[in-house]
Amino acid sequence: MLVLGIETSCDESAVAIYGDEGLLSQKIFTQNSHTKYGGVVPELASRDHLSKLPILIEDIIKQSNIKMADIDAIAYTAGPGLLGSLVVGTMFGKTISSILKVPSLAVNHMEGHLLSPFIEDYKKAQFPILALLVSGGHTLLLEVNGWGEYAVLGESMDDAVGEAFDKTAKLLDLGYPGGHELSKLAQKGNPFRFDLPRPVVKKQPLNFSFSGLKTHVLYEIMRLKKEGIWYEQSRFDMAASFELACVESLLKRCYDAIEKKEKTSNNIYKSLIVSGGVSANMTLRRHLDILSDKKNIDIFIPELSICTDNAAMIAFVGWLRMSAGERTDNQVAPRARWDIGTSTKFAVKP
Ligand code: KG4
Ligand code: ZN
Repeated sequence: MLVLGIETSCDESAVAIYGDEGLLSQKIFTQNSHTKYGGVVPELASRDHLSKLPILIEDIIKQSNIKMADIDAIAYTAGPGLLGSLVVGTMFGKTISSILKVPSLAVNHMEGHLLSPFIEDYKKAQFPILALLVSGGHTLLLEVNGWGEYAVLGESMDDAVGEAFDKTAKLLDLGYPGGHELSKLAQKGNPFRFDLPRPVVKKQPLNFSFSGLKTHVLYEIMRLKKEGIWYEQSRFDMAASFELACVESLLKRCYDAIEKKEKTSNNIYKSLIVSGGVSANMTLRRHLDILSDKKNIDIFIPELSICTDNAAMIAFVGWLRMSAGERTDNQVAPRARWDIGTSTKFAVKP
């Protein structure tokens, strides 16, 4: 079964083809029309998806050396994300499905991120798995008990961690999205120079909070500027200190969830999935190696090329679920909010 995947949840227009032999090819167009506004402008994003998707689809068919008629099914991101952008991808998916007379599936973008580390080999998944999803829109800690069986253990009460990276990057005079740029600055800095908080959520230790951290950075920068000591090295040190605070906050919840499971169940976590745009962060990856050694747990993290938004993960989830017989009615509408905890379970080919 050859599945065409379409991703348009935010500002990446992406397509991919996934088949029984694995990923055939993928294309990602990152919209740059938003840079000058310092954030994604929903109206521009929808228009860009509309103009880029036909070109991308034509390209991917050529690149994969197949014909449009060879496509057996369509998987499109139906949420969560920007509604206007989702409508464009959804309409493309449903239209191609009607013209080719092939089935289609509405895919949850966060399930795409979650399962992206298994694109190469889904048979490596051994449940229960602990999962940390870190993107621009979400910070989620999940217990994965099987395919499609996801229980939310923790989530951010305010900013998502990627959003905190982007907002802090702006404070450091970097462009949008600034997560990657901030991490480059951090490489030149001392992560112990500034004593930034590791916010906790009262009575909900597995939930996250990042907005206070970002505000703390703002006040610290204002103080340094006032004192006339906001030098280039201070920017590097602030980036490094912020990055470390985020990484430690994220991993504290992972350690806590792993230890809680060890105390309360014989069925301990065998693996930890970390995925979403922020999983490209190298400091996070280094700290995960330490966690893996300390807790004797396997880390599943996507390749750098598919950490941020892409359609390979959407085509893959589509392939998994449609191989199990799942289909979506063409009447189903996209949704800006779609809780991954409400996913339905499915069986995979042994
Ligand atoms: O998963 P993603 O592409 O989009 C959403 O689903 O939201 O994640 C994008 C987020 C942005 O906030 C971006 O700044 C962040 O991932 N990001 C990073 C890095 N690369 C991307 N954050 C920290 N370090 C990075 N290397
Ligand atoms: Zn994403």
